[in-house]
Amino acid sequence: MTAARHTTVGIIGAGPAGLLLARLLHQAGIDCLVLEHRDRAYVEQRQRAGILEQGTVDVLRACGAGERMDREGLVHDGIELRYDRRAHRLDFPALTGGRRVTVYAQTEVVKDLIALQLASGPSLLFGAQAVAVEGADTSRPRIRYRHAGRERTLTCDYVIGCDGFHGVTRSAVPEGERRTYERSYPYSWLGVLAEVPPSSDELIYAHSERGFALFSMRTPTVSRLYLQVPNGTDPADWPDDRIWEELEARAALDTPWKPARGPLTAKSVLPMRSAVTEPMRYGRILLAGDAAHIVPPTGAKGLNLAVADVTVLARALTHLHHTGSTELLDAYSDTCLRRVWRAEHFSYFMTTTLHTDAHQTPFETRLQLSQLDRIATSPHAAAELAENYTGLPLE
Ligand code: APR
Ligand code: PHB
Repeated sequence: MTAARHTTVGIIGAGPAGLLLARLLHQAGIDCLVLEHRDRAYVEQRQRAGILEQGTVDVLRACGAGERMDREGLVHDGIELRYDRRAHRLDFPALTGGRRVTVYAQTEVVKDLIALQLASGPSLLFGAQAVAVEGADTSRPRIRYRHAGRERTLTCDYVIGCDGFHGVTRSAVPEGERRTYERSYPYSWLGVLAEVPPSSDELIYAHSERGFALFSMRTPTVSRLYLQVPNGTDPADWPDDRIWEELEARAALDTPWKPARGPLTAKSVLPMRSAVTEPMRYGRILLAGDAAHIVPPTGAKGLNLAVADVTVLARALTHLHHTGSTELLDAYSDTCLRRVWRAEHFSYFMTTTLHTDAHQTPFETRLQLSQLDRIATSPHAAAELAENYTGLPLE
């Protein structure tokens, strides 16, 4: 049996993209409904990156989701690069005319947005799995979804696919109307949480012939650490001691340096991939966030891109709501893709400059070291990295 319901904007997925879009539309007085396949606990526990660009912080604050972020987020003025047993710090405000980043985990952003939405709307249905999006080229697209054991239909003026890289919305665009550009990488990340204060005040990105390592953090008492590992690695092959020894070896300096050790929790392996689907709109279906593009995590651009997409989209739908003009909506895909490709390049650059592939030649390793040395010695090269890392301003 099918029960039909209508909303102006039907949003599939309650990750950061779907939740923030719903919040922005709600504030603009536009009716919307979010369908999320998983339950609340699952969505709130998924471990993801945690670096917020200034533009992301500004948007979260402006929509009322910034209170805990402002209290608990850690403002960072730089990062450290390690290579060839040397350390080099990049001073972001000095290199970018004042920009910095905030360390605040994506899981916390998601918790804050869910709490806000459940308290004051719009509607958010957990356990609602979209199975198909139909009628993209009509004025009444439909989402067919399963909820509480029943199949239902939601008719919409617009359907927004915020359903991540494995979502269903992208496939509602006919194959001949979309193109996906992608690249895979011959390595993954082993990510762990450690119950120990971070060993450094800022993030450390370490290049070494043993592979890449990243020292990040969640709070002043919890570290987030990553090691480059071969694809297909089983976390069970990495007992705690082996992880600590490898982190220490990859970040070693000529002067003595040892990260403080603590109990490890939440070990997992993350594959790395770059992909962009173009265009991000087909008729009345629009894609945002990971549904349209993914980046390897080096540089932490995924969440920031999702926030940029939905900010542009909310502005376009609000403009349509007030003026009846689709001008901004028509420009949505092109507007977003410029930023998306910049972030794709940056993420690719950070990944391929800092990781050492088992098959790379000594020549390629020397090129990586030369590039890192260039960043350490040229303010221009350093500023290029810092501008991309802290994020281009939202237009
Ligand atoms: N029906 C309903 N919900 C769905 C469906 C479906 N068929 N398919 C997927 N979803 C939900 C997922 O359960 C998930 O909660 O869509 C949501 C997508 O959320 P994210 O994967 O977090 O994607 P997005 O909101 O675009 O956020 C991008 O997340 O993957 C990271 O690094 C990425 O930080 C970036 C951010
Ligand atoms: C993280 O803290 O999870 C993180 C930080 C920086 C990155 C990637 C991930 O580049």
